[in-house]
Amino acid sequence: MKIKLRIKRCSPLGPGCAEGYYQAYTIDARPGMTVLDALLSIFDEQDASLGFRRSCRSAICGSCAMTINGAAKLACSTQIIVEYEKAGALTLEPLANHTPLKDLIVDFNPFWRKMEKIRPYLKPVSMIEGKAVQITQDDLGRIDKAQACILCGSCNAECSSLEADDRFTGPAALAKAWRFVGDVREAGGRARLGRLSDDHGVWDCVRCVRCTQVCPKDVDPLKAIERLRERAIEEGITDNPGARHALSMAASVRRVGLLDEAAMTLKTLGFLRSLGMIPFGLKMEMHGKMPMPMIFSQIENIDEVRAIYDECERIKPKIRT
Ligand code: FES
Repeated sequence: MKIKLRIKRCSPLGPGCAEGYYQAYTIDARPGMTVLDALLSIFDEQDASLGFRRSCRSAICGSCAMTINGAAKLACSTQIIVEYEKAGALTLEPLANHTPLKDLIVDFNPFWRKMEKIRPYLKPVSMIEGKAVQITQDDLGRIDKAQACILCGSCNAECSSLEADDRFTGPAALAKAWRFVGDVREAGGRARLGRLSDDHGVWDCVRCVRCTQVCPKDVDPLKAIERLRERAIEEGITDNPGARHALSMAASVRRVGLLDEAAMTLKTLGFLRSLGMIPFGLKMEMHGKMPMPMIFSQIENIDEVRAIYDECERIKPKIRT
């Protein structure tokens, strides 16, 4: 079966990678062929100037991640015919949220810097009350998914928060951070949580779920971020806008069954910074997006909402992370 691929290209020689262009190649696809196989055949038989990364060809090293038909995927584990038939076309582009260096090769330095920032190594407690710390199967289960990360960068490529602000720590590094915070042998968990609760840390995630959807190893970075947030609050690290926002949101729903945006803003930002939100609040008011503050009445059957909260509190120890 003949398949035409459109590949986004750019060269550091010439006009650079700010603007790219698309080049089409036609390959003879056979069942079982992956996108990486196709790239290797183009490289060998048609165009040795095409730039892309690969190593293991077995979805282990993470180096072949790229944007395939609009979503981050591993080229070595994407079947070309299946992908082509799904979309009726095949377009390959470099990973989003990364700077292209040449064709499908992107600059991974910012990725590694974020990873370094979370200090990706265990600071072990050797003993607790005179006993060596043992890790059980359950303990391991809590961090198992995060350990499966192959550092391909797919989650960061699809992250809406990183797209808006590249200072965000990002899902890859935060999932790695959970691997250490969630480890019972880790001695520096609270200090880590303090750093991760600062600006551009766990609270910058907008929970778009894209990281979890595209992860080729089922790491579930969003879950890891939620666990870090929950653990930070349990540790009392709440003096930051993100934690205050989460707590005031939960309190508002418990109190009146709805989001009391005005009260939440006040609790999240404090009085002085809330003043700056007044024009935005008025706009929301005019568009019917926010009930009038001060005349905020609770919903009918608020007792049912509170019963849900009580039940969550009751079962929380059983589902603790
Ligand atoms: S080549 Fe190693 S993950 Fe694809």
